[in-house]
Amino acid sequence: MSSKNILITGAAGFIGSHVARLFVNKYPEYNIFNFDLLTYAGNLENVKDIEAAGNYRFIKGDICDLETLRYVFKEYDITHVIHFAAESHVDRSIENPFVFIETNVMGTANLLQAAREHWDNEKDGHLFYHVSTDEVYGALGETGFFTEETKYDPHSPYSASKASSDHMVRAFGDTYGMPVMISNCSNNYGPFHFPEKLIPLFINNIIQKKSLPVYGDGLYTRDWLYVIDHGTAIDAAFHNGKIGETYNIGGFNEWKNIDLVKLLCSIMDRKLDRTQGESEQLITYIKDRPGHDRRYAIDASKINKELGWYPSVTFEEGLEKTIDWYLANSEWLERVTSGDYRKYYEEMYG
Ligand code: NAD
Ligand code: TYD
Repeated sequence: MSSKNILITGAAGFIGSHVARLFVNKYPEYNIFNFDLLTYAGNLENVKDIEAAGNYRFIKGDICDLETLRYVFKEYDITHVIHFAAESHVDRSIENPFVFIETNVMGTANLLQAAREHWDNEKDGHLFYHVSTDEVYGALGETGFFTEETKYDPHSPYSASKASSDHMVRAFGDTYGMPVMISNCSNNYGPFHFPEKLIPLFINNIIQKKSLPVYGDGLYTRDWLYVIDHGTAIDAAFHNGKIGETYNIGGFNEWKNIDLVKLLCSIMDRKLDRTQGESEQLITYIKDRPGHDRRYAIDASKINKELGWYPSVTFEEGLEKTIDWYLANSEWLERVTSGDYRKYYEEMYG
């Protein structure tokens, strides 16, 4: 296996940290550079266990800063990019769309430009792998799936900014012949997930016996994938996928929000030695999210057939593992919710 110098952007965040861990441990011959601004969602505790690895280095930086990116590509002779860094929470994008446009659109364009300049339009031995979401495809009705051919139809400022970044990646591929690849994944869950998203927020609230705010009628549907399985899918596409292709990633695992929340409550009651039904009483229906997409569902048959990738766990198994992790890592949860995790960076890096 040849050596690669891989810039993983956003690897202090949720999914990026799992993929950085996978690559650092599985490919000792690769050099992994974690490029992250450490926004509220970035936490170096997420990658603490690989911090001392000889093939890993953290670089604090902003993908909106082209000069720094140019320096990093040159200094470390970056050959490959796996691009996670983004603003990722829909509700925040409704509050403040501009930081999403800045980071997700301009940041991605900067990264493409820095890679293009450093690779000097040379394709061989390079790859720009862009991590995207199923939300770019918009909302489904009761039936059907998103395939790689589904027309883009984003509704939130978050999904519009991700759609825009996908278009920019394809434009650099088509215009400059850059070796690009995109994957669009469904909703992830698992350890190190920031407790503003549905599953970790509700786990935290159940532990604290706080109310569980379900938006609208609770009948919105999401397609959930364990984060470790997203990592193995990226590994498969990165190494065996075709340049210029798009791969949809998902586990054919749709859940209506309210059913998922009830399952979560029931598992948590068992784990916390509470009476069955106790946590369900915390469910509170609240005002709906504006522009709320009704249903997401990924058709993952292309990556199944072409790359032989399948998820490793069922939803029930993944959810058990996730809950166990949050219960065993209550300090992580406390530091993240109090903002104390930022102190870790100051102590580590000054
Ligand atoms: P996250 O919010 O947990 O992490 C984002 C990371 O990017 C953080 O570490 C943050 O510090 C960093 N970052 C933000 N702005 C930056 C900037 N300007 N420069 C450098 N770093 C910056 O996000 P996540 O849930 O891990 O998602 C990662 C990627 O995967 C995103 O691109 C997202 O769109 C995509 N995705 C997420 C999901 C999901 O369910 N979470 C599903 C499909 C695709
Ligand atoms: P979220 O985790 O924010 O992911 P996304 O919006 O990117 O799919 O939300 C998942 C689903 O849960 C979505 O339909 C919105 C809903 N939701 C709630 O009902 N209450 C909440 O407090 C949150 C955060 C989400």
